[in-house]
Order: sequence, then C-alpha cells, then structure tokens
Amino acid sequence: MAPVITCIEDLRQLAQRRVPRMFYDYADSGSWTETTYRANEADFQNIKLRQRVAVNMEHRSTAVEMVGQRVAMPVALAPTGLTGMQHADGEILAARAAEAFGVPFTLSTMSICSIEDVAAHTTQPFWFQLYVMRDREFIERLIDRAKLAGCSALMLTLDLQIVGQRHKDLKNGLSAPPRLTLANLVNMMTKPRWCLGMLGTTRRGFGNVVGHAKGVSDPASLMRWTGEQFDPRLSWADVEWVKRRWGGKLILKGIMDAEDARLAAQTGADALIVSNHGGRQLDGAPSSIEALPAIVDAVGSHIEVWMDGGVRSGQDVLKAWALGARGTLIGRPFLYGLGALGQAGVTKALEIIHKELDLSMAFCGHTQLSHVGADILVR
Ligand SMILES: Cc1cc2nc3c(=O)[nH]c(=O)nc-3n(C[C@H](O)[C@H](O)[C@H](O)COP(=O)(O)O)c2cc1C
Repeated sequence: MAPVITCIEDLRQLAQRRVPRMFYDYADSGSWTETTYRANEADFQNIKLRQRVAVNMEHRSTAVEMVGQRVAMPVALAPTGLTGMQHADGEILAARAAEAFGVPFTLSTMSICSIEDVAAHTTQPFWFQLYVMRDREFIERLIDRAKLAGCSALMLTLDLQIVGQRHKDLKNGLSAPPRLTLANLVNMMTKPRWCLGMLGTTRRGFGNVVGHAKGVSDPASLMRWTGEQFDPRLSWADVEWVKRRWGGKLILKGIMDAEDARLAAQTGADALIVSNHGGRQLDGAPSSIEALPAIVDAVGSHIEVWMDGGVRSGQDVLKAWALGARGTLIGRPFLYGLGALGQAGVTKALEIIHKELDLSMAFCGHTQLSHVGADILVR
C-alpha cells in the first residue's frame, strides 16, 4: 500500500529507503560535526508565533513577488548538485513540478541534466545558479548558455570557493555516475526503482560540463576537473564582471554577515540569500535564521533579502517572512520528495509547505501574506 505522506519528514524517510546510500547521504549531511546543519532546523523551533482568533480567515493568498516575478508562495527550489542522481532525470522532473506549482526552480551548475535539456522539457523560464570556476572561458560560455536558454535570473553562489568536508561523502566515495564497486552494487540492488529509472535514462554525468569544458571526456577526468576548478580567488570584482556579462536579474547566494551584505547590496544585485549552504560549508557558523535579522536591518531597504537553510515547513517560511525574508529556498525538502516519489514527490513537498503556510498565516490572523509583518511573532 502507498504510504500516506503528511509532512516533509515522511518524504525524507521514504527517500532514505529508495535512494542509494551514497546519494541519500550526499543530501542529508552537513560539514564536519554538522552543528550548523542541525542548527538551521533547530533554531526555527525557538521562534514562536502569535495565535489570533475571531478574525475572518476566508479568501487567503500566499502569493507575493520574488525579484519581480509572481510566485504562488515565497519559496523557490534551491540549486542542488547531482539532483539527477536522487532520481533519474531529477532536474527536469523538479523543474516541471515547480513550474506547475508556480514557484521558481534553480538549476545548479553541477546538475546532471544540462541547461539546454531542462529548457527543452519545460515551458517557463527557470533560474540558473553559477559557480565561478578557474576556467573563465567556460564560465563565459555557461553564462551565455543560460541566457540563450531563456533563464530569467542568475544566482551567483559566493560561499563555495573552497569546499567544506562532509565525512560521509568521503567514506561513500561519492561520484556521478557511481563507481560499480561491490559495496555500491549490493546497496543499489536494494533500490530497484532507482535502478530501473537510471537504466532508462542517458543522463548520468554532469550535463553542463561534459562536452563543454576542456579536457573532460570520461568520469575520472570529470571528477578531477570538478575537484580542481572551484576558484578560490573569487572576489567582488568577479561579481561585477559576472553582473556585466549576464546583464539580467542577479541573485547573490551565501551571505552570512552584515558587512558582506552591504558589499553585496553595493553591487546593485537584485537579491541576496542569507545562506550557509545548508550547513555544508563553515561548520560553526550560526544558523541562517539566526543570521537573518541583522542582515535585514543592514540592507533590507536596499536589496531583497531571502534566506535558505533548515526550512522544513510552511511555519518556517512564515517565520522567515516575519523576520524580513522576502523569499526562501528549499533544498533537502524537494530532494527528499524527488527521491521518494519523483515529480509527484516534489509536488507533494510544495503542497505540504503551501498548506502549512496558508493555515498558519490564518491562525496568526492574516489572509494575505504580503500584509504579514514581525508582529505575528511572540517577542
Ligand atoms: C545535496 C545538495 C547539493 C547542493 N548543491 C548546491 C549547488 O550545486 N549550488 C549551490 O549554490 N548550492 C547547493 N546546495 C545548497 C542549497 O542551494 C541550499 O543553500 C541548501 O540546501 C538550503 O538548505 P536546506 O537543504 O536545509 O533547505 C546544495 C545543497 C544540498 C543539500
């Protein structure tokens, strides 16, 4: 019998059963001790909502705008690498679910399905996330490809010049496609749906890189290339350069400090995302929701401030909104949905979060999310 799914945790448990360990662990992990990863979720629980009663709660709407784009709720799908390894053709399925729901989808530089492939299988523009690599010609072409594919915003990630260590990825020997070691084969044999899906698709490598980057021909050279390419020299001058080359809506991702937020706002970017990369980079950094208020205070009137990290429910979205985030992104919640049930699982994750947001907003005495302010929080 199909399990009854009522919350994101249900999707996580199902994904854990259905996705090979290497890729499930890749999603459900943070760097080193995972303290920041855990705090991202836990710190939401310390924020309390003010319940109101006897207020007309009919005719509600959670619709708002993110960088001028109408969205069904202030939630976008975060860029996540290797999404096509959680489920065959994962990026295409997630993009389609987002499109049907009316929220933005962000394609990672490190996706399995390429920009062109996702564009060919969707009807609405999506966003593209850029990592700056040492090979600047490759980056120029990547920006141009995103433009050509009609992407409506570029999300430049600033917090991954160097890579935090995740113990599980090292122990599992993470790679895409997975190496066919005995341990991997034994584990994959317990995931028949995943295997069938993967046998039915040709999308198993880094679609944006293979055939586009110099010297990348086979899985071994690809893994080497990705390991060496993240550019540790990334600077604010590079941000200016990317902004000029792109010429469209620009979102800066990975800001955790008010001083950096001021510098980000000075670039003239359209939005910034308070993010610690889902607890995958600096272990020991505060949770994103803890870092949010100071950044809203510093730059909230100059640039749209969004946040991601630890959002697992509509209540979390509501709390972030009340603290001044004009948008949120979800990573693991949609990955769990995808791993559990494919496109239907991503839709399910969005439905769950939307319903929780809609009802919780009403319990706080509001019918329009756009009118909700900090006064819904217990201080
Ligand atoms: C499996 C996984 C892969 C990720 N890959 C990328 C990526 O390629 N680019 C990027 O900017 N952020 C990446 N992130 C970070 C997410 O965009 C986002 O900041 C984070 O997942 C938010 O936290 P949450 O998962 O608790 O919602 C990744 C996160 C996860 C979990």
